[in-house]
Parts: sequence; structure tokens; C-alpha cells
Amino acid sequence: MTAKPRLFSGMQPSADSLHLGNYIGALLSWKELQETHEAFFFLADLHAITVPQDPTALRENTRRTAAQYIAAGIDPSRSTLFVQSHVPAHAQLAWVLNTITGFGEASRMTQFKDKAAKQGNDAASVGLFTYPILQAGDILLYQANQVPVGEDQRQHVELTRDLATRFNSRFGETFTVPEAYILKETAKVFDLQNPQSKMSKSSESPAGIVWVMDDEKTTAKKIMRAVTDADASVTFDRENKPGVANLLTIFSVLGERSIESLENEFAGRGYGDLKKALAELVTSILGPIRTRTLELLDDPAELDRILAINADRASEVAEATLAQVYDRMGFLPRATLR
Ligand code: TRP
Repeated sequence: MTAKPRLFSGMQPSADSLHLGNYIGALLSWKELQETHEAFFFLADLHAITVPQDPTALRENTRRTAAQYIAAGIDPSRSTLFVQSHVPAHAQLAWVLNTITGFGEASRMTQFKDKAAKQGNDAASVGLFTYPILQAGDILLYQANQVPVGEDQRQHVELTRDLATRFNSRFGETFTVPEAYILKETAKVFDLQNPQSKMSKSSESPAGIVWVMDDEKTTAKKIMRAVTDADASVTFDRENKPGVANLLTIFSVLGERSIESLENEFAGRGYGDLKKALAELVTSILGPIRTRTLELLDDPAELDRILAINADRASEVAEATLAQVYDRMGFLPRATLR
């Protein structure tokens, strides 16, 4: 039997709910990929603190995000689902990788530049600067072959590959050089109020984001009020009718139907019909996920126990890689006392 390829991905637990873009863009693919891969999914809480977080909210959001992963179909007995800070090797490997990353190289990371500009350059932390290096460590600790991420993370995976190759050639073969598995752009979800930009938790229009944890009425209302355009025909035209194109994309992915069959079904009918059908579909999928999430959150001790078991599993792999790294770097091994 040949081993399944390893897969590693995760998100920052920096909101109390995932949104429809996370669900369609990431979770649906993860759920499928866990069948064919040995998958590791994590909650990147060490990354989350690169921008200010309220400690109580961070702790709660970490549990909530974990519960939503499980409710959406990530199976913690099949995939390894864990919290980054539960595995100290992440911080430890990041330090080593910091020392083989060029300052100029790190300065070229466009996400850092964007985030730093948003915060005001003086407010941006050194942690935010080395964020991509911590990310490289996440991936390399697990000897991952594939990293399913959105296009915006491609540069970080490229950096990871460079660092793995550099370390291997300086210190000897240690890391698997991973590949980005770029999630389909066709599954990209846009803001319902501003369909030119991606659905994002930092959006300025609360009505434009469908949260997984919204109740069904709220979700339906947001979809019914989604921005469309003056010409009332249900056709897919990303350029000229981005609002309708977005609704059709969501419908197509969640309903597992082609855009064409949807155009046919709604030919000669108005946007109201499309939105009504879509609202039903979306709530029929998110409703049970929300309910299951709340059930899981009702028993936080059990949830924490699942995360601990998974952290143990993750640690085993991570510790083995870190031990090799420390050895190759020339660190003096600590003697075993008896
Ligand atoms: N930077 C990723 C994001 O914001 C989160 C992340 C951290 C990640 N470490 C990772 C994703 C390792 C994939 C692999 O979406």
C-alpha cells in the first residue's frame, strides 16, 4: 500500500463565525480532500495574535471555529484537527526558519505590506512581519505534500518551498518541498452588497456577508437583499452582472449543478425567484451545520478533549521533524537524566 499524500491547511480563529466564502472556498474542498489525503487541519491562533486580539474572544473563537470545522464535515478521527498553540514545535521551528530567511526576502511578502499599511506602518508588529515564516514552519513540520489555500496564500507557499529547499541544501535532506494546491477560483464567493470584492470578515457591509452562525431568517434576508442589477435576466456575466454571477456561483457549488442548467431553469423569471430558491438552498445546508456547531459548543469539555487527542497526534509528527532539524543545526542534545 502506498501512503496517501499529506495535506496541511488551516485558518485563523479570528472571528466567532466562518462565512459562506470560507465554507465554499475552503471547507468543502477540505472535506473532500480528507478522503484521499492524510490531512492535517489547524486553527492558527499563533498567527491570529499578529494583529491585536481580545484574549477572551480569541479563546472562544478558537473553540467556535473548531466546532464549525467538525460540524461542516472535517472528521477529527480521520483528519488531524488541532490548535496551533497546543503544539509548541510551531513556534520552535519558526525561530530556526527566521534565521535562514533574508530580511529582503521577507520584506517582499505582499500580504505583510497590505496588512501593515492597513494598520499604519508603525503599529505593525515584528510578528506580523515574520508571519509567513511561521506559516512555512506549520507546513514543513508535517512534511506536507500539498497545501490547499486560496490564491492570496500562493506567495507564502512559494516562500515555504524556498526555505525548505535552502534548509535541505545547507543542512541535509530534512523537509518535503510542498506544493500549493490552489483552490478553484470558480468557487470564489463575493460580498453580497459589493460583488466586486471577495466575501471577507473585514468587509464594510455587514449585510454582504453570510455567516455560518447566522440564523436562517437572517441568512435568507441577506440573500433576498443581495445587490443585483437593472437588467432582470438571470444570466452569468461576471463583468457586467457581478451580483447575479455571484448568486449563480453559490447556487451552482452548493446545489452541485451547472451554471447553464440554472440559467435555463430561471430563464424568463426574475431575480426574486432565483434569490428565494437560493435562500432555501443555503439555509438547508448552513442550518444543520449551525445546529451541530451549537451542540458541540454545549459540551466544551468534550470538544477540548477531541482537540487534545488531535494535538497529541500532531505533536508526534511535528516533534519528529523538529528533532531532526535541531540535530542538523548542531544543537547539543539535552542528556536524559536518570
Ligand atoms: N495564512 C493562512 C490564512 O490566513 C492561515 C495559515 C497559517 C495557513 N498557516 C498556514 C494556511 C499553513 C495553510 C498552511 O488563510
